[in-house]
Amino acid sequence: MEIINRRQRMFSISRKLRREEKVVGLVPTMGALHAGHLKLVEEARQSCDVVIVSIFVNPTQFNDKGDLERYPRDLTSDAALLADYDVDYVFAPDVEEIYPEGSSTYVYVEGISECLEGASRPGHFRGVATVVTILLNTVRPDKAFFGQKDAQQVAVIKRLTSDLGFETEIVVIPTIREASGLAMSSRNALLTDEQREKAVAIIEGLREAKIAFKKGERNASNLAEMVQKRIESEPLARLDHVAVVDRETMQPIDKIGDNETLIVAAAYFGEVRLIDNVILNRMQ
Ligand code: PAF
Repeated sequence: MEIINRRQRMFSISRKLRREEKVVGLVPTMGALHAGHLKLVEEARQSCDVVIVSIFVNPTQFNDKGDLERYPRDLTSDAALLADYDVDYVFAPDVEEIYPEGSSTYVYVEGISECLEGASRPGHFRGVATVVTILLNTVRPDKAFFGQKDAQQVAVIKRLTSDLGFETEIVVIPTIREASGLAMSSRNALLTDEQREKAVAIIEGLREAKIAFKKGERNASNLAEMVQKRIESEPLARLDHVAVVDRETMQPIDKIGDNETLIVAAAYFGEVRLIDNVILNRMQ
């Protein structure tokens, strides 16, 4: 496994891999790897000849400086994990490699970027869309792998790859959960034991709503209210939002019909902001 720090080196490797007609899979990450990331790596390993994992804590997607500073970083242990998972290349550039001095171009996906996570974290999706564009353009993978936990991020990235004509297939992997049901996230490491235990309120609320949906409830605000009540019943939680939305556009839905629909939630436990979602009516 080679660790690459320079964009030029990554360009020349990806050119060589294309000449050799290898199927290249990219797993973009910000490091602090957990079982959710490793599942993406396994999926990439199964369907690609060459697996590249990027590790880059992207400053432009953090609207809160403290959050950026607190974000866990440990390249040495991440790289050791990835070697065990038979990864071919780790692309771990510095900030200056991705955003060289004078860099002033951003990618903004209108419509999807402003609501929900975008409303709570202004500029977040502009940062995500920009760095994902740079990564896809540098690595030029056939497939890129993302987790369903970040549903709005997935919607933004699918829109941008379609709009900008990237040939990369976006592969979305179901959320990996701890035994308690809590969605795996690098941020879980920042929770106290008690917060971690109580944070299951999010998935418990979402699951209650899904059961109600299966029993025939189609009114979005009734479903959202169930999730809200469950999260608010937990004194350590501070609810940010709950919404029933179209999976592709992330726009709110009143009555659930034929389009794939998600129920999404975000809540703070202390300073740590957690998100999760469930798909109510999976279409494939
Ligand atoms: O999901 C993440 O870890 C990040 O948002 C991503 C896609 C690697 C972009 O920085």
